[in-house]
Amino acid sequence: MRTTGRRRRNLEGMTTTTPTEMSTLAETARQMTSGGRGVLAADESIKTMSARLEAEGIPAGDVTRRDYRELLLTADGLPDSVSGIILSDETFGQELSDGRPFPLAARELGILPGIKVDTGTTPLPGQGGALITEGLDRLGTRLASYAGRGAAFAKWRAVFDVTTTNSYVARANAHALARYAALCQEHGIVPIVEPEVLCNGDHALAVSAETTGLALASVFEELDRAGVDLTGIVLKPNFVTPGLDAPAIPAGDVAAATYEVLLDTVPAAVPGIAFLSGGHPTADVCAFLSDLIAIPERPWHVTFSFGRALVSDALRTWAGAPANVAAAQQRLLDNCRSAQSS
Ligand code: G3H
Repeated sequence: MRTTGRRRRNLEGMTTTTPTEMSTLAETARQMTSGGRGVLAADESIKTMSARLEAEGIPAGDVTRRDYRELLLTADGLPDSVSGIILSDETFGQELSDGRPFPLAARELGILPGIKVDTGTTPLPGQGGALITEGLDRLGTRLASYAGRGAAFAKWRAVFDVTTTNSYVARANAHALARYAALCQEHGIVPIVEPEVLCNGDHALAVSAETTGLALASVFEELDRAGVDLTGIVLKPNFVTPGLDAPAIPAGDVAAATYEVLLDTVPAAVPGIAFLSGGHPTADVCAFLSDLIAIPERPWHVTFSFGRALVSDALRTWAGAPANVAAAQQRLLDNCRSAQSS
């Protein structure tokens, strides 16, 4: 792997964790993103998950949300494709029908349990509707509790819209991501750092490239300032694409544009990059990933951390009926294998 000046600065500036703790974090980050496996994002908030259940005609409640997450986690063969699962706070505290807590059941399957710790977004005042992610209050206490209950990694998502992102919006969100990441490392938890540039709209590829470049550059500047060790994080970015309402372009062009932005902004010290799917169809994101993986001499491991692209088919197939569980699990496994063999 290449070593950049930025990497050397970060290693020298590391103050909050011991070498042993860092090697554990680095090993976890490597485990999450290498070996052809990726991370399953099953961390929708109660509100989002309830809306998705109801859209499929399934009554939403803590039991149906739990049954659905149990269906995902217990799909036979999931650990062959999936190294980690991101859970919401509700699921993290729930038990499978056999009585095992979700984090314990995941570990027993060979899947690292992770926890989404941001508490969602709110408008950033004076910024035309741009969003800032919240959740830093008492985050240290919450992380200590999650670590004690088995969390290996965490996730924080910052959201950027191409029409409202400017350097202030990028800096404010990057600052929060950096404070979150530093706290995670202090508690022995690998931070997934997720700056998502939304793909809704009809913008051109170059617009996505510019906003993604600004967001990523701000993130790595703030991580550096916060003393975060880059060898113990996982980056979760969007693919650089035209807006979903713009004419589609070949997957190879998306991969090339994405790689160009990443190479420009992401230090080689970062062990792994796990992409979000962002609302793109499963076949499309698998093709984007496949073409990215094919690029020789990449400095980082590259894999998936998809949500909707892996689980939407399974949810639709399940429809809340116990008789459909096996078929739904098969849909999940098929999508995981497509992403894995990308
Ligand atoms: O924060 C977003 C999720 O972790 C990934 O979801 O793949 O459906 O965009 P997605």
